Formats: sequence, structure tokens, C-alpha cells
Amino acid sequence: MKLIIATNNQHKLDEIREILATAGLRGVEVLDLSAWPALSDLAEDHDSFVDNALQKARAVHAATGLPAVADDSGLECDGLDGAPGVRSKRFTPEATADANNAHLLERLADGADRTARFRCVLALVTDAGERTVDGRCEGRIAHAPRGDGGFGYDPLFLPDDHPGRSMAELSTAEKNAISHRGRAFSQLPALIAALGLA
Ligand code: IMP
Repeated sequence: MKLIIATNNQHKLDEIREILATAGLRGVEVLDLSAWPALSDLAEDHDSFVDNALQKARAVHAATGLPAVADDSGLECDGLDGAPGVRSKRFTPEATADANNAHLLERLADGADRTARFRCVLALVTDAGERTVDGRCEGRIAHAPRGDGGFGYDPLFLPDDHPGRSMAELSTAEKNAISHRGRAFSQLPALIAALGLA
């Protein structure tokens, strides 16, 4: 069977392909959106990760007729009432990782609760039905960026699973084993099997 991963973020795509290889997804040809340029700017204008992931997966399934997987992910900070949340990508007008990280440090004034989590909601939309799963990675926000790996907020995120290191200081395999995306996408083979697709 063919399956489309509906993301235009190359970092996310690389991580997802590696997670699926580790999870043992067999008999499935994983495609990306490169053959469908008209789908390069998928809307994600809802206020929840679930609604945004479903919106993107439904749009790609409707346009291609193929089983489609989309995810919506982001960072939730308890000291900021869950911000940036679904606005993680566009937390600043520049929408760059450097600007977003600098803004996050400014917003988390001294004494603020620095508890945070990455979340990833995956949506699978097929002719046989729809499924969603929610992957979480708990941690804290550092006082300064550290490390060169990963992307986005990784240099500021200190995962509880690896005390003393930021997400950007983990190897790809270490990140995928504990990340929100790893925890969501490693369930994809079971979702596909449950829908009787492979
Ligand atoms: P998206 O809307 O799911 O593409 O992701 C929204 C934003 O959340 C990204 O642009 C990043 O800023 C942030 N984000 C999502 N996943 C990660 C991650 O694994 N590490 C760091 N930042 C992430």
C-alpha cells in the first residue's frame, strides 16, 4: 500500500522516516508531498493539535485518494498557560527558530514555571476510517540554548528522560526514542493494521 506523509518540514520528514523504519512499518510505500505541489501550503487554522492534524490529513486524502498521515506538533509551557501551543511555528512575526527561542526566554521571566512538554498529534485518514494518537514528551525550558541538533525549540528543551542535556544535544536515535513525534508515529503500524490496511 501507499501512504502519504503530509508535511513540508524536511526535518520532521527525516525524523518520521527514521521512526517508521525503527517501528518496523513493512509493506508500506511512504510518500511525501513532493509530487503534489498544490498541497504545499496546507491550512492549520484550528485551536487544537487534533483538529489541525485531522484538517491536514483530510485535505491530502481528499486530493490524492491515498491514505494520508499528518501531524500537528508544538511546545506547551505551563508558565505561559500552554503557549506557544498550536502557534509554536509562528510565535514571532519572523517565525524563525532563533526569534521564537529568544521570545520564549523573554516571556518566561525569572521565577516563572518552566515546566513544559512537546506534543505531537498524528492523524491517519483513509477510506477505511480515521484515527488520531497523541504523543507527549515532558521536560523544562532551559535558561539559554544548548546544542546543534534537532530543530525549532530543541536547544531550549530539557527532556525529563535525559537529565542534564537539551533535546538538541541528543543523537537522532536518542531524540526519536523519547520524543513526542517518536511516541506518536511509533503507533502508526498498529493503527494501519487495526484499519486492515496492511
Ligand atoms: P508543526 O506545525 O507541527 O509543523 O510544528 C510547529 C512548530 O512546533 C515547529 O515549527 C517548531 O517550532 C515546533 N516543534 C514541533 N516539533 C518540534 C521538535 O521536535 N523540536 C523542536 N520544535 C518542535
